[in-house]
Amino acid sequence: MILILLGPPGAGKGTQACRLVNTKGLVQLSTGDMLRTAVASGSPIGLEAKAAMDAGQLVSDELAVRIIGQRIAAGEGESGYILDGFPRNLAQAEALEAMLAKQDMNVDLVVELKVDDAAMSRRIAGRYTCAKCNEGYNDSFKPPRVKGICDVCGSDRFVRRPDDNEETVQARLAAYHEQTAPLAKYYAQRGVLRHVDGMAGIDEVWRQIEAVLEAA
Ligand code: AP5
Repeated sequence: MILILLGPPGAGKGTQACRLVNTKGLVQLSTGDMLRTAVASGSPIGLEAKAAMDAGQLVSDELAVRIIGQRIAAGEGESGYILDGFPRNLAQAEALEAMLAKQDMNVDLVVELKVDDAAMSRRIAGRYTCAKCNEGYNDSFKPPRVKGICDVCGSDRFVRRPDDNEETVQARLAAYHEQTAPLAKYYAQRGVLRHVDGMAGIDEVWRQIEAVLEAA
């Protein structure tokens, strides 16, 4: 199955993608994660991407398509992929279609997380992850069970993303509405778009995604 999670920054794409990986055996392909890894390692891709990411702008289509194309071409997802943060505009959607066609695959489902922009800043401002195992947390919505200790691996080291600041979040939201939101229409025309209420709690959003998958 090829499943795209669509939604603005903070909508919960990464949060729900984790559950899909753990329960459905799908491989998560997050262009944001791949780019952050490249930036952290100082690789040529990271150096190219850093300025755009820091400003809350999209990196070039060529770069985004290249990094996702390498993973799809490697054929690592036997049960399929969850695409989180890709495609982000029409050019990327068309490139994805072409990449998948080469492997006799196509987009099966696009789940759009419907949210209010106003609430996204609070979610993003509160977000942090375990520095060791990458488990995601939130000051307001998902604190660790024991304060300062990761539920999953027990580490006491956490990190926050450099682009999770108010100014950059506004730019990221604007980029989403200008360039990415029109993809909902694109996928609706192909009959694969479904909606869930991304303003609900994390467990309720997950229940709605499971219902969408069962009905597919
Ligand atoms: P990317 O990493 O894709 O970031 P994003 O789209 O801005 O999305 P986020 O990761 O901020 O949000 P999310 O929906 O995953 O939310 P999460 O689950 O963490 O992209 C970063 C940058 O990379 C871009 O700005 C761009 O520069 C570049 N880039 C990436 N892909 C690209 C591409 N294809 N082309 C060009 N450039 C690209 O949840 C957020 C927080 O809320 C968490 O703390 C979570 O615990 C909490 N939360 C989640 N769900 C709920 C809920 N239902 N209720 C309450 N809290 C919740």
